[in-house]
This record gives sequence, structure tokens and C-alpha cells, in this order.
Amino acid sequence: MKTVVVTSRKGGVGKTTVAVNLALTAFDGGARVMLADIDPQRSATDSLKARTRPGPALIETTAGKLFQLHMAAGREGFDLLVIDTPSTPEAEVALAMNLADLCLLISRPNFLDVASVVRSSEAVRRLGRTGLVVLNQAPPSRKGIEPPSVLRAIEALRFGGLPLATVGLRSRAVYQSAIAHGVSAAEWDPNSTAAREMAGLWRDIQRRLGIGLAAERA
Ligand SMILES: Nc1ncnc2c1ncn2[C@@H]1O[C@H](COP(=O)(O)OP(=O)(O)OP(=O)(O)O)[C@@H](O)[C@H]1O
Ligand SMILES: [Mg+2]
Repeated sequence: MKTVVVTSRKGGVGKTTVAVNLALTAFDGGARVMLADIDPQRSATDSLKARTRPGPALIETTAGKLFQLHMAAGREGFDLLVIDTPSTPEAEVALAMNLADLCLLISRPNFLDVASVVRSSEAVRRLGRTGLVVLNQAPPSRKGIEPPSVLRAIEALRFGGLPLATVGLRSRAVYQSAIAHGVSAAEWDPNSTAAREMAGLWRDIQRRLGIGLAAERA
């Protein structure tokens, strides 16, 4: 089993959006997926409870119970554990990160988010984990040219030393509609650009984890 922990010390950057979409994308690809929601806001839970079709196993829990949950999920044959975290407290997020095969650091392309991710990159390294930065809520590119905010963010993120996902997520209405119904962007609209970019991000993550989860299950 692989464990992906979705984090950011900033609120509202898209942790839950990414966690729910990745869990659903992996599930729709045939993987056995558990989503653990350790954020007392319970946003991932609110989203998945709106779901009307089969989906990932959803566990509302706390950071302190994650170690046991991680062991149990491995024993029970899950392929993927996705953990959606709150922005704070740092010590609780660290408990989740300690279990991670991959820590996703979510950032919008703005100065303060990026500065925060650069600091968090140090924490990932200190914990000896593997990290990946995902740019979310980026404005659209125009004729293939990235907006200056995205170019500045990409440049500044280099100071954190963690790799940037090959696919960034743009600000798109599909993500907001989909999450309100407990479905992935692809389930909401399979032909949407959001569906394509989320599939691209999942492929990148699978490659970094060294897995093909759907194939593993077959
Ligand atoms: N790529 C995107 N395009 C459009 N809207 C987005 C995108 N990502 C997130 N959002 C919206 O931004 C808001 C915050 O997203 P989300 O709840 O996923 O962030 P979060 O980091 O989990 O927040 P919190 O820190 O409160 O847990 C939500 O309304 C969500 O629908
Ligand atoms: Mg959240």
C-alpha cells in the first residue's frame, strides 16, 4: 500500500480538492482506496458523503489514530491511503507525514503560499520524506503562455528544493461543482480540461510512487 498525504500550512489552497479527486481517480482506475480525513472541519467527509455511488472507504479520524489505521489498511489489502490534513497543528500534520510515501504540498501561485511551501519543504526533508509540490488554482495560460504569477511561483519554488508536479491545476468551475457532489472532475465531466489535468497529475504521482495501482489490482 502507498500513502499520499496532502498538506499545506495555508488554508483554502485546495488540499481537500486534491485529496478527494486523487482518491476518486485512483478508485475509478480500479484501486482499493481509503481516504482518511484528519481535518476537524471534515470537508473531505462532507464531499464524499454527498456521493451516491460506490467510492473509496472514508474514515473520519485524528492524527493520533493514523498509525493504527495505516497498519490496518495495509493488512486489509488497500492499495492507496490518501490523508487529507488540516493546515495546523504542525505536530499532527507531522504524524501524517511520517507515514507518507509521498507528501503533496499544495500551493496557489502567489507570494505567501509559495513562501510557506518553501518553509514546509524543509520540514518534509527533516522528516526524511519524499515531497512533491502541486500548483493549484492557477490562472489559465493564454495561447500556451503561462501567466506571470505562475512563472514567478515556479521560479520561487526552486528555493524549496522539492520537485514540482509536471501537471498543475488551474482554477476551474468543474472542481467546485464536482466536490459538492462527491465526484471527481472526470466523473462530473469526462470531457473537461479539469478531468484531463487531474488524470495527468495522478499519472505523475503514480510514476513517482513507482506504481500502476489499477494494474496491481488486476
Ligand atoms: N483548482 C480549483 N479551481 C477552482 N476552485 C478550487 C480549486 N481548488 C480548490 N478550489 C476551491 O477553493 C476552496 C478551497 O478548497 P479546499 O477546501 O480544497 O482547500 P483546503 O486547502 O482543503 O482548505 P482548508 O485549509 O480549509 O482545509 C473550495 O471552495 C474549492 O472548491
Ligand atoms: Mg481542506
